Amino acid sequence: MKELHIAQVSEKIINELPDGALLTVESNGKLNTMAIGWATLGRVWNKPILTVMVRFSRFTHDVIKNADSFTVSFSTEGKLKEIIAKCGSKSGRDIDKFKEYNLTPEYVEGIESPYIAEGDLHLVCKMVYKNTMEPELLSDEIKDRWYKDNDYHTIYYGEVVKVLKNE
Ligand SMILES: Cc1cc2nc3c(=O)[nH]c(=O)nc-3n(C[C@H](O)[C@H](O)[C@H](O)COP(=O)(O)O)c2cc1C
Repeated sequence: MKELHIAQVSEKIINELPDGALLTVESNGKLNTMAIGWATLGRVWNKPILTVMVRFSRFTHDVIKNADSFTVSFSTEGKLKEIIAKCGSKSGRDIDKFKEYNLTPEYVEGIESPYIAEGDLHLVCKMVYKNTMEPELLSDEIKDRWYKDNDYHTIYYGEVVKVLKNE
């Protein structure tokens, strides 16, 4: 495993997001992964920050709300395409996605949430902030397009503490 600087992979991350990635979280003895397609990458508080958005209805929301870390794993050349589709349609409430899809949780020292070893590029993040969307502050256009069912997102801000690439 090779450690990279965030700037070396930022373009790749933005380009890969539409194909989906795996957000993995562990807290209070619960481990889960789900597909994500939305995230932002930037610099805040003089730190490299990745934000991810998790709807209230997700099992991941139950796990991440108490978490002090999360990871996001990407795959190149569509290697995890089917896994991402499955992890984006099945819930950890009903199945153990790690067992069902033969996924391997790989741990970084001092970080509770593992990354998915089967991915190629991993962002390991320490939770530094979270906020829940306030519907009254949202544009009508986005509200009508994405939140007709009132299933809003909580936005989680992670300091990217490690960028790992499979060799
Ligand atoms: C490509 C793709 C991207 C997705 N992006 C998000 C996202 O950014 N936020 C979110 O809350 N759900 C997203 N989803 C939906 C969740 O992955 C899906 O509801 C999943 O089954 C939730 O699993 P869980 O209940 O185990 O947390 C996405 C699904 C797919 C297929």
